[in-house]
Amino acid sequence: MSLVIGIPREVFAGEKRVATVPEVVEKLIKLGFRIAVESGAGDSANCSDDAYRAVGAEIADSAANLWAGADVVFKVRAPTDDEIALMREGSTLISFIWPAQNAELMQKLAAKKVTVLAMDALPRQLSRAQKMDALTSQASVAGYRAVIEAANAFGRFFNGQITAAGKVPPAKVFIAGAGVAGLAAIGAAAGLGAVVRANDTRAEVADQVKSLGGEFVKVEYEEDGAGGGGYAKVMSEGFQQAQREMYAREAKQADIIITTALIPGKPAPRLITAEMVQSMKPGSVIVDMAAEQGGNCELTVPGEAVVRHGVTIVGYTDLVSRLAKQSSTLYATNLFRLTEELCKTKDGQIDVNMEDDAIRGLTVIKDGEVTWPAPAPKLPAAPVRAAAAPVVKKPAHGHGEPSGPMAARTMAIVFGVAAVLFWLVGAHAPAAFLGHFTVFVLACFIGYMVVWNVKPALHTPLMSVTNAVSSIIAIGALVQIAPPEAGSLARPDEVIRWLALGAIVLSTINMFGGFAVTQRMLEMFRK
Ligand code: NAI
Repeated sequence: MSLVIGIPREVFAGEKRVATVPEVVEKLIKLGFRIAVESGAGDSANCSDDAYRAVGAEIADSAANLWAGADVVFKVRAPTDDEIALMREGSTLISFIWPAQNAELMQKLAAKKVTVLAMDALPRQLSRAQKMDALTSQASVAGYRAVIEAANAFGRFFNGQITAAGKVPPAKVFIAGAGVAGLAAIGAAAGLGAVVRANDTRAEVADQVKSLGGEFVKVEYEEDGAGGGGYAKVMSEGFQQAQREMYAREAKQADIIITTALIPGKPAPRLITAEMVQSMKPGSVIVDMAAEQGGNCELTVPGEAVVRHGVTIVGYTDLVSRLAKQSSTLYATNLFRLTEELCKTKDGQIDVNMEDDAIRGLTVIKDGEVTWPAPAPKLPAAPVRAAAAPVVKKPAHGHGEPSGPMAARTMAIVFGVAAVLFWLVGAHAPAAFLGHFTVFVLACFIGYMVVWNVKPALHTPLMSVTNAVSSIIAIGALVQIAPPEAGSLARPDEVIRWLALGAIVLSTINMFGGFAVTQRMLEMFRK
């Protein structure tokens, strides 16, 4: 018997999203499920009952009927008490839950003996989980919309123009916090022609800011803001002071400030003070995307756009709902990708496999038992990053071992042994061998530097690039294996020919493997 996936109408005030859209219903049906949608569920996201019906969904006339018939429920917002009352024992709910902030809700859901997968609990650092990452898909919609809201409240063009009526300078946009939402905002503002500058406490985002057309503005204070899992941490008082000074300078120049700074489980950091707002030009705009978590700006009123000191401060908390069709489609796709993982057999059944790191992370309640928080997932080895230690100058004659991947003493021993070996080879090997040996050592060194400096996430594309290297090896090997020209006295050395054959076999494996990997990567980008 196929399970029924139910899509209720969202009841949270102002929520316009819906958990699935007709385009995705078709794909869910292909996985073997039956789909039931509550009448009117997609109205605010431009998905009519008829559109759902046309792709094979059943329409439930009331929330009670919908919940009663559903084995699995897809939702956007965490369920209300009324909705929990309608849940069937043994059913599965997939929704945003925020278990850390909602202990009471977790207890109520557990008491219902249901299984709950929280989309916000996905271990985002697993590359396999990216297709299911609803936090990212929704944050990028919000970042884009923040720029549109800013443009709406701003009285000028974003791009610079030279017209018969005069010269218009481009708008200056400053983005505080370059996470997913911030980066989307940088891309959107740069796309509209603004001059974009951005800051984040995590130094690693500087390149991403640049690649999207922004300029990264650094705080003149050495402290890395990476707090683990790709998120930020609360910064030291010294850093905050230096950051405030820099933000005060930026605020004076900026026409638009978009703030997105968040720290998981903490109130949003206060970055824009009332004085900074006062120092901005009249007509400037601040969009505070952190309004719901207390706001990055001191003068933000959550949910409203207010004018303070001549500056419009937009504190809307429904930016994602303001692009309901887009955000619903992306969310529905995240849920579909998750469903594929839950239903590998494509037979309309789900298996909440707690051995799977991604599924384990998402599952916050299993059959009525609270399973949150999940243990940290096992990650592929990442390059060891130098510890973000506070900058303390070492005493000139300190006793401690220097930090870093290899201690100085070990390094000295390795170099000493290598030097002796090289001397032995140099002193005794024939001259012809030495030339090849030098090239070999240099090739090993360059190969090591190239591969070791590449992040593990990029090893797959790197592998496909090695195809080119393999081709060169294959050509070299073919030259070696070729029979001597007619009339030539040179006899090919049998050992060399066998080595060349081995090289051809190995590089062939590498080439075909590389093509297969490239093909799979391209498939990921195909619609
Ligand atoms: P978020 O919404 O929690 O925070 C937004 C941004 O505010 C972050 O970039 C954070 O560094 C920044 N921020 C916090 N305090 C700040 C301060 N005082 N001043 C300036 N900026 C401050 O984060 P989001 O957007 O959900 O993701 C954060 C990062 O994690 C992103 O860069 C994203 O690419 C990355 N990420 C990492 C994954 C992983 O592999 N671990 C998976 C998914 C996302």
